[in-house]
Order: sequence, then C-alpha cells, then structure tokens
Amino acid sequence: MENILITGADGQLGSELRTLLDKRGDCRCFYTDFGQLDITDAGAVEDFISGHSITKIINCAAYNDVDGAEADSAPAIRINVTGPMNLAEAAARHGIYLIHISTDFVFNGERRTPYHESDRPDPLSEYGRTKLAGELAVKRSGCLSIIIRTSWLYSPLGKKNFVRTMIRLGEEEDFVNVVSDQTGSPTYARDLAEAILHILPQLDGTPRYGEVFHYSDEGSCSRAEFADKIMKLRRLECEVVPVPTSSYPTPARRPVCAVLDKSLIRTVFGVKVPLWERSLSKAIRLF
Ligand SMILES: NC(=O)c1ccc[n+]([C@@H]2O[C@H](COP(=O)([O-])OP(=O)(O)OC[C@H]3O[C@@H](n4cnc5c(N)ncnc54)[C@H](OP(=O)(O)O)[C@@H]3O)[C@@H](O)[C@H]2O)c1
Repeated sequence: MENILITGADGQLGSELRTLLDKRGDCRCFYTDFGQLDITDAGAVEDFISGHSITKIINCAAYNDVDGAEADSAPAIRINVTGPMNLAEAAARHGIYLIHISTDFVFNGERRTPYHESDRPDPLSEYGRTKLAGELAVKRSGCLSIIIRTSWLYSPLGKKNFVRTMIRLGEEEDFVNVVSDQTGSPTYARDLAEAILHILPQLDGTPRYGEVFHYSDEGSCSRAEFADKIMKLRRLECEVVPVPTSSYPTPARRPVCAVLDKSLIRTVFGVKVPLWERSLSKAIRLF
C-alpha cells in the first residue's frame, strides 16, 4: 500500500485532495500543514519521510501572497524555494516520486496564445520568481518528479480566494470595480485534485525527472468576466464595473494573459479538463 504525504494539506488544493482521498481507502495518507511538518525544515522533512515510510509526496504547501512577497520576499523564498528543495532532496535520497505544484505567474503574459510547457518563463513578480526557483530546485535534485503549473485556483474549502471575496462584496455592495485587462483560466481546485489522483498511479510506469505539465480548467476570461459570472450564478444584484489594471494598482505586476495549453497533460496522462464555467457552477453552491 502507498504511503502518501500531502504537505500544505489545510490549503485549497490540499483540502480537496483530502476530500477525494478520504473516500478511497486504497492508500495511507499523511496530511500535514505548517503545524505538523514545516517543509522549510530539512531535518523534519527527512525524519517524517523515513519515519512514515512515505512512497509519494504531493506538495501543496506554498506562500501565495503575491503582493506581500514584493514587500518582503524572505518568507516566499523559504516556502516556495527552500521547501520544495527539501522535499525534492529527500525524495531523491529515498527514490520516491514528488508531485510539485507551480503557477502560470512564471510567465510574463505577453503572449496572446496559450503557453506551452516549453515556452520560456519570465516572471514579473517576486512570487513568480520564487515559484520558478522552486521548479528549478526540484529539477536540480534529480528526484523522480513532475511539476504541474496551474492558475487562478479557488475552492469552497479555501479561506481566501477570488470567488469568496466576490460573493462577500456582491452581498455588501451595489457595484464592484474589477480589472478587465487580465486574462486567465479560473480553476476549481477539486478539478486539479482529481487530475493529480488520475496521474498518481501512472507515475510508477515511467521515470520522470522534473517534467513540467500545465493544468487549468478549460477556457479563459478576464477577472471582470469571472466576477460577473460569480454574481450571476449567486443571483447577486451587484454590478461588475470593468476597470483597467492601471486604475487598480497593486505592488506586484501580474501577467496580462497567462492561459495554459493543456495538450501535454491530456495526451500523456489522459487527464480530462472541464470547462471553467461548468466547474464554477458546481463549486458555487458549496460556498
Ligand atoms: N491560489 C492560486 O490562485 C494559485 C494559482 C496558481 C498556482 N497556485 C499554486 O497551487 C498550489 C496550491 O495552492 P493553494 O491555493 O491550495 O494554496 P493555499 O490555499 O495557500 O495553501 C497552502 C498551504 O501551505 C501552508 N504552508 C505555508 N507555509 C508552510 C510550510 N512552511 N510548511 C508547510 N505548509 C505550509 C499554508 O498554511 P498557512 O495558510 O498557515 O500559510 C496553507 O495551508 C501552490 O503551489 C500554489 O502556489 C495557486
């Protein structure tokens, strides 16, 4: 039986994985967050992996405060670079697989067509730079691993995300300004969790070392269109006013158009990619 370590398990993706894995019972799962296993502590990572005979790691832990990382990049470096490096080096020592999660923010978003895995990263923010450095740390370790880049994650199990914020504003305000010149793919963390669990049993057949795959829900929209859809699905009488990014300045620059091409993950692993609108209409009932 597999012994799977899920780090950052109290976050959006980790919580969705727990919900799915708890229904299965075909593996032993160890759900850890900062309190149980701080991934920035190399000794603790090694002790946990050897102490629990871990056979696979899914790293959902991350520092995701994109604007916060501009003011102080130290925690982002620790959690997004040192953490994955510790997990990857331990995975290499034990000959076990690591699934690591990264982001569309490794791209500058200047392309108007979906990004392939082979496209050159060029992050605009400290957050993006630390996530890219985390990918490189995983690759450099030489461990059995895949890296999945995703985008605009939300989950009703998450404490803070765009959907939750829009529902709150929609209930409190008559109108809300939302940027209309940033395009991406809203992704229900449940869909990504399902994709990961679909991939997991296929990993043993083929050794992969830091191979990158893209996964987001299908289709794309602007932040304003995403907000508008949320208001409509919740029947909230709040007008979404489209505004340019220039009128809503943030400390971190964000990619204007970071849509991921999912052909590779579909072809290699047979992953199904649902449409973002369909997934949102399922998820919204659970918020
Ligand atoms: N959210 C997005 O829109 C988005 C977009 C693209 C890619 N991603 C990537 O997708 C993955 C999953 O994201 P998510 O939205 O599920 O993240 P999340 O909800 O922020 O969860 C991350 C979890 O990691 C925990 N954590 C922080 N530092 C840790 C440490 N040193 N050791 C162990 N756990 C630690 C966090 O705890 P605290 O809450 O206490 O800090 C949190 O529970 C991440 O790699 C993220 O970068 C996310």
